[in-house]
Amino acid sequence: MIPQEKIAKMLAAYDKKKLKLATLCSHTALQIFYGARAEGIKTIGLCTRERKKFYDSFPLAKPDEYMIIDGFNSLPCEELAAQNAVLVPHGSLVEYAGSSINDLPVPIFGNRNSLLWEKSREKMSHWLNNAGLRTPKTINPQKIDRPCIVKFPGAKGGRGYIIVKSTDEFNIRVPNPPTGTLVQEYLIGVRAYPHYFYSPISKAGYAADSGSIELMSIDKRLESNVDECYREVAVGVEVKPSFTIIGNTPIVMRESLLPEVMEMGKRAVESAHALFGGIPGPFCIESIIDENLNFYAFEISARIVAGTNIFPNGSPYSLYSYGEPMSTGRRIARELKLAAKSSQLQKIIY
Ligand SMILES: Nc1ncnc2c1ncn2[C@@H]1O[C@H](COP(=O)(O)OP(=O)(O)O)[C@@H](O)[C@H]1O
Ligand SMILES: [Mg+2]
Repeated sequence: MIPQEKIAKMLAAYDKKKLKLATLCSHTALQIFYGARAEGIKTIGLCTRERKKFYDSFPLAKPDEYMIIDGFNSLPCEELAAQNAVLVPHGSLVEYAGSSINDLPVPIFGNRNSLLWEKSREKMSHWLNNAGLRTPKTINPQKIDRPCIVKFPGAKGGRGYIIVKSTDEFNIRVPNPPTGTLVQEYLIGVRAYPHYFYSPISKAGYAADSGSIELMSIDKRLESNVDECYREVAVGVEVKPSFTIIGNTPIVMRESLLPEVMEMGKRAVESAHALFGGIPGPFCIESIIDENLNFYAFEISARIVAGTNIFPNGSPYSLYSYGEPMSTGRRIARELKLAAKSSQLQKIIY
């Protein structure tokens, strides 16, 4: 892990009038570039040769400049630093860079410690519990007494998860469970993924820790094939549900549930502060709400999530905070600007 003082030193040497935002051309890059442009911040796209044509096809959302990379695990950190660039982490960066993300010698938007906590199932579960969030039960595979979802280690985007209803079924379908396989009670309800932004330098939102949180938007994921199974059921074809993420769809939540959404976000932020120094910037609590209106949180993503891509023009919630189009991508650029202006960059960057 690169020491925080080292990054602080690099940042101190940056020309604050020429800050740029850089990210990997994948995941939420279009939204981040488009949002930065609206805030007048220049962007750098770390892009493979093959992907450039795709990004070039969106003139308003392509980066101002490209740095062509061979693969996702060799990032030109020195060049980025020489350009006063702050790297914005997103799901693909976290996935491809792995734990080496913590050693990248370039300032990262947010607290890079949080990316380690999001990657480890044990740490994640500690965080959710420490925040006092209600979570699904972990079930001993030899004592399965209800429908369970089996999560394999290193699975990406829900791929390969299966549902089992008994220990016998588990033993047959998973004869050699890899170390780190998690068997969790299968929750029945509506999934909702609220997207938050925690600012340690603004008091305008819902008071949390030393700053406030803003509710940017809410989505739910479209997963193949579980989300369209009703078609197969209707025509009499049996399907084994799977959970591979394909896309996202917007949600507007019953208003009386929103105060709890905010409290959950506040607790996640305050617990993050106590456990690993905080989560400035965007994050998302992946939750399921049951028929008794109980929230269950099964994961936190400690960075921008792909569900925010639905809202490049803002959402029914961000409108009430900004009165102008404010996506999570744009909010990142706005935070960079505000923090630079008030000499508080060290609070939002590590
Ligand atoms: N306990 C659960 N009960 C019901 N569905 C779940 C549960 N946990 C996860 N899922 C479903 O599986 C998907 C992927 O699970 P998640 O743990 O978020 O995996 P990933 O690490 O790939 O994001 C979720 O979006 C949700 O649809
Ligand atoms: Mg998830």
